[in-house]
Order: sequence, then C-alpha cells, then structure tokens
Amino acid sequence: MKVDELRSKYIEFFKSKDHAQIQGKSLLPDNDPTVLFTTAGMHPLVPYLLGEAHPAGKRLTDYQKCIRTGDIDAVGDPSHLTFFEMLGNWSLGDYFKEKAIALSFEFLTDSKWLGIPLEKIGVTVFEGDETAPRDEESAAVWKKLGIPADRISYRPREDNWWGPAGATGPCGPDTEMFIDMGKEPCGPACAPGCSCGKWLEIWNDVFMQYNKTAEGRYEPLARKCVDTGMGIERTVTILNGKKSVYETEVFAPIIQAVERAGGYGYGANPEKDASVRIICDHIRASAFILGDPKAVSPSNIGAGYVLRRLIRRAVRHGRKLGISGAMLSPIAQVIIAQMSGAYPELTENASRILGELDREEEKFLETLQKGEHEFEKLLPNLLKDPRKVMSGRLAFKLYDTYGFPIELTEELARERGMTVNRPEFEEAFRKHQELSRSGSGQLFKGGLADQGEMSVKYHTATHLLHKALRIVLGDRVAQKGSNITAERMRFDFSHDAPMTEGEIRRVQDIVNEQIQRDLAVTMTVMTLEEAKTSGAIALFGEKYEAQVKVYRIGDFSQEVCGGPQVERTGSLGVFRIQKEQSSSAGVRRIRAVLE
Ligand code: ALA
Repeated sequence: MKVDELRSKYIEFFKSKDHAQIQGKSLLPDNDPTVLFTTAGMHPLVPYLLGEAHPAGKRLTDYQKCIRTGDIDAVGDPSHLTFFEMLGNWSLGDYFKEKAIALSFEFLTDSKWLGIPLEKIGVTVFEGDETAPRDEESAAVWKKLGIPADRISYRPREDNWWGPAGATGPCGPDTEMFIDMGKEPCGPACAPGCSCGKWLEIWNDVFMQYNKTAEGRYEPLARKCVDTGMGIERTVTILNGKKSVYETEVFAPIIQAVERAGGYGYGANPEKDASVRIICDHIRASAFILGDPKAVSPSNIGAGYVLRRLIRRAVRHGRKLGISGAMLSPIAQVIIAQMSGAYPELTENASRILGELDREEEKFLETLQKGEHEFEKLLPNLLKDPRKVMSGRLAFKLYDTYGFPIELTEELARERGMTVNRPEFEEAFRKHQELSRSGSGQLFKGGLADQGEMSVKYHTATHLLHKALRIVLGDRVAQKGSNITAERMRFDFSHDAPMTEGEIRRVQDIVNEQIQRDLAVTMTVMTLEEAKTSGAIALFGEKYEAQVKVYRIGDFSQEVCGGPQVERTGSLGVFRIQKEQSSSAGVRRIRAVLE
C-alpha cells in the first residue's frame, strides 16, 4: 500500500458515505494561542466540534498536515515524527458511536478498501472513570461486527481518552484500532493496546462529548460529535509490515538524498543512522512550515523558534555525518518533488522554502565557525581546571555572544574530556530570558531577574491575574508578556476587544479574593509532558527543556514558571487595576499595582 493510494482510498470511501471532502488547513492554527502548530486533523475543526455549523455539512473528511514538537527528543528513533499527515472523518452532531465504528470497520476489512483480515484486528475501548462511564456501547458494536471479546480491551484514561488538542476544548473517550503483527503475546495480559509490539495502532475514533474548560471542568457538549484520526505514515508502515517508517517510500528518497550529501550509507552505524533520521524528519517538517501559506521565518520566538531549532538541529546532525558545507536545499528539493501532488503549496512556495533554508543554514554555519574558534581560544585555560568542568557562565557567554548552542559546547568539551556545568548555564539562560524579554514581546516565562520582595509579590500577582483573565474572558486568553518593577506590573495578553468595566472589576475581585484566601504557593519539578497532562498553563511547544517547574497557587492556578514566587498569597496586599489598554493588534495590556 502506497501513501497516495491510502490517502485517496480513504477520501473516496468517506465521500461514498456522504461525507464532504474539505481542504486541510494551515500548519499554523488560527485562534489558538495555546499551541504553535496544528497537531491533529481535528484542530482546525474545533469551533465546529463545539457547536458552530460547518458550511460543508455535518459529515466531513480530509487529510491534514500536522506537527507535534512534544516528542522532539524522541525524533531519531525509528517511529517518532515531527511532521506527519493525518486522515480523518467527522460527524458534527450526525452519527455517533454505532455508525462511526461500522464505517471504520468497513474501511478496514472490506476487500474493496483496505481488506485487512478480521482476525488481525483488535480494539480498545474506554474503561470508564469519574468523568465518563465504561464504554460498553462501543464494545457491543465491535462484538456485533465480529470482533471477539478477547480482542476488545478496556483501557484507562491515559490510553483511551483523546483531547483537547490545546489546553482546552473538545475531548472524549475513544476506541482505537490495532493490527496484530503476528508476534507471540508478551504475557497473559497482552491484549490490544499492549505496548510490546504485538499490537500496533492505526486508527482512533474519538467520541467528542465534553468541552474541557480552563478550570479543568468537563462540560457535556450539547451536540455529540465524532472525530477520527489515522496517521498516514504510521499506517503505511504497518500495512506494509515494515518495522519503521524510515523503511517506507515516505523516507526512502529523502534518506537517499542525505546519503548523497554525506557519502554515508544508511544502516552502517546506529548513531549515524539516528542522525540521518533526524535530518530527514527535520528538513521535512521545516519544508512544510516554510511552504505553508501562513509561513513563518526562522526567529527566536514562537513557531519561528521551533523552525530555527529544527533547521539547526538538522545541520548539527549533518556535521555528525561529516557534512561541513551546505546540505539542506538539495534534500528539501527531493521532499518538495515528492509531496507536492498532495500539497501543491510546496511547489508554489519552493523558492521561499529553499531561500530561507539556505539563509538560515549559512547563518548557522557562520555561528558554528565563530563559536568553535572562540572555544579553541578558551581551551588552554579550561584545561588547567583539574576537575575538567567548564563553567556554565562561560558556556552561556558563548551562546549569548556567538549564538553557539549549548549542545555544541558540550560536544566540544566532551571531545576534550571535559563537561559543562549545565545547571549553571540554565540559570544564566533563564535570567537572560527574563531580562531580554521584559518588553511586550515576551513569550517565554523564565525566572524573575529582580528578585526583590516587591517584585516577587508582583510576579505571583501576574499568575493570579492570568488565571482570573481566563476565567472572565475565556481560556483563549494567553499571556503575551509581563514587565515587573518594585512599584508596579504590566501584563500583556491576547484578547480582541477592550475589556468592559464590569470585566475589569470581576478580574480584580477574583484576584483579591485569592489574596484574601491566603493560598499556599507550592512548586513541583516535572517533565513538560507531565505538566501538560496535569493541566498547567504554559505556552507549550515553545521550549524543549525536559524538566520544568510548575507553580501551583492553592486550588486556583497552576503554571509552568521559573519562579520565584511568594509563599502565601496573603502577603500581596490589595490588587488594583489602574488601566486596561491596547498594546498591539489582538493584544491588550493591563497596568496594576499592589497597595
Ligand atoms: N484527534 C484524534 C487523534 O489525533 C483522532 O488521534
């Protein structure tokens, strides 16, 4: 089964079942400040899943380009991709569980479509919890269609609940479809959903029944919907019995292009193979971001920052293969030629894609050269240190002055038998972020540079304000920046209209209420993934640090933040909003004081 065939069969099948084919949308989502990229086929459909009427009707199908950056560190292993395509079909208040499952079953098993033998299919359904009941209904439909009970597995929320795509939005229990790869079961409990490799997932039918609010509540949706997602690359890998997506036609021509650039034959060395995969994946994702009609350029902020990281990471891995000059555009050209049938925007924007890649690559190569040169100059002194530890401040200086990435400093240090004091580097980095982004463009939330008593109080007040704004104006509000002195605070946030006097008063009252409740402020270090799952507010996808600090203010708010914060809110005094005004397009600014 080829990618093009799977894509067109899927669309054709659902069209034959009265679904309208709609256009996949941009990789850069509209109106969702909580994510940087479109992460699933349903993402552009969120307003319709929440109740808006869709102009094309109640039954829809499409293929959608997606980017997930959460797994960036896993890229390079044989299965994780940054960019991928997702097939989907939707019912907007039309059919629900029974019909959705029957449609999935027909497409999977009918010889006219995928023709997968019944005995190779297993499914999982939601086992139930305090939010939603055990999904006996879906299980019964699967049984009626011929899936035996021992291939229907009930699984918990971690496995069989999907969404929301960002911090808030539609979500619900799901039923997932798996293919038996023919391996022996790993034990008596091995069933569909088991991660041993016997069962591989190819499709997910989500029963969108709830809207998750900013406060973490699950409100039932007035109109129940179905959202399904089938990852194209993954499904093609499984249907062709391949072990890795990199063994399929999706990556074969790209791997060849990397081989040509590096003079290295894929398969000869595991570490170099990982570099080849990273290069393929990252250039593919970068070409799609740059080829998008709403393309961003590499920058130090938001989606542009992710793009820059992708490009630079690809270049770094090119060097591990021994490529010292430019390599990106010839590889991107292969991707453009390969994918432009389904995504004509790649050809339309080819010169932009190639030009931006060339420019960023050149800039980065210069940076690398300068950084290496500086490192060599520092070396004689560094080698005098008997512990062979390079200070984090020095590593930060290389980063700050020459843009030399910490990973490379560490690499050069390693080659000389040295290590870098990474926590010290992180500390210097955080301080720098807060200082350099204290203006209205601030997107990252690092630590607080001025750690005086009043500034710390204002810092905690920004968290209370952020949450209060989300309660009053809705959870699309996101912090865009803050500026704190010992005398006052400024807080910028995304919102389209001036706030009314009533809204301002409510926000102020909510903040003061939390101060009066004298809530305890506690901090936990967790992985970004855990922070996401626990519902902490953050601009996810912004940074790749594995560990983050999450500050919780009583039961009121939870945010990823560098700190510091006060110990209890009671110490803040009285919070007063002095002014609410426009800051820039779609961004409002509040000035407030603690009295
Ligand atoms: N939105 C669901 C997913 O991405 C279908 O798996």
